[in-house]
Amino acid sequence: MSHGMTIFSDQIKSNIETSENQNDKGVKQLVDNGIETVPKKYILPPSERPDINNSEHPNVAKQNLQLPIIDFSDLFGPNRPQVIQSLANACEQFGFFQVVNHGISEDVMNKMMDVSGRFFDLPIEERGKYMTSDMRAAVRYGTSFSQTKDKVLCWRDFLKLICHPLPHYLPHWPDSPLDFRKVAATYAEETKHLFIRLMESILESLGIVEDNQEVKDNILKELEDGSQLMAVNFYPPCPQPDLTLGMPPHSDYGFLTLLLQDDVEGLQIQFQEQWFTVQPINNAFVVNIGDHLEIFSNGKYKSVLHRVVVNSSKRRRSIASLHSISFNGTVRPSPKLIDEANPKRYADTDFETFLAYISTKETKRKSFLESRKLITILHD
Ligand code: OGA
Ligand code: NI
Repeated sequence: MSHGMTIFSDQIKSNIETSENQNDKGVKQLVDNGIETVPKKYILPPSERPDINNSEHPNVAKQNLQLPIIDFSDLFGPNRPQVIQSLANACEQFGFFQVVNHGISEDVMNKMMDVSGRFFDLPIEERGKYMTSDMRAAVRYGTSFSQTKDKVLCWRDFLKLICHPLPHYLPHWPDSPLDFRKVAATYAEETKHLFIRLMESILESLGIVEDNQEVKDNILKELEDGSQLMAVNFYPPCPQPDLTLGMPPHSDYGFLTLLLQDDVEGLQIQFQEQWFTVQPINNAFVVNIGDHLEIFSNGKYKSVLHRVVVNSSKRRRSIASLHSISFNGTVRPSPKLIDEANPKRYADTDFETFLAYISTKETKRKSFLESRKLITILHD
């Protein structure tokens, strides 16, 4: 019996080793083929490893951080001023918060999580139809963070969908599983709506739209017509989770990201130089500030570094919905947040510049945002 097993796994191992582009098909394929160790291409240098098994490591917090929780339904009741204040604090101090009672039904969320899992259960031939290096493609299946540029690959497969305008993109989305388009379209529309409602409150929290309905309407209109990209992420169990990451430290490019995670932990955010796990809350959205909102707020609200750790026993799924203005638009600091005490801190930024930047560099950490800064703020 044990002899038979050995031959079996040796056979698989040699199949994997002889297939030349084994990394191209992603990590789920490696795991489905019974890989028992992490291939070299995925092993991070020691200083970049997650250190999940080393509680003495100074960069991984021993205690959990209680991230701010915003009760969305409270935003539209008598406590609105206080909730707006909590929202402002969350955006300034953490750049991250969780939203509960947001009005998107459990049914819509569960179905999206479920159909995403079923998509990744499809044979690799079916998923692989959507592999492309064209970053403007309506649908893009891939692996790692940036498959072509990452020096070390990470333990994630993804399906990215461009969502706006939906009638244009929907016919390009996967038609297998059969209910995929319908479920994902409903989910995309509802998260977009929630994004707009959240931005309305965030604009108020920045104090730039008081008594000025027109300014507010114009900004919201630009976001309403803006871009939406959904990333369906799949992190298979990893035989040696302390050697690699599901996603390296990065910030998101847009205004806000609305993330739905399943009940397996893995997302960590950086706060005061330490990494904290974001505890999954059933039916909540994890919301984080992206680079474009940092620019728009002239640095008042910060986009935050986050990463994903993997584990050896459970697969993890998440759906990230990234929202910004249109791919043709320009993001600039709001004139209302610029004065003598607060000079303009960021250069105007368009997507062309961003795409040109990420296609030439490894986009780790917040390097793109750094490149847009006009003033280096000196500490001491
Ligand atoms: C992302 C991201 C986190 C997660 O897709 O940009 O940070 O938990 N995802 O999957
Ligand atoms: Ni992210």
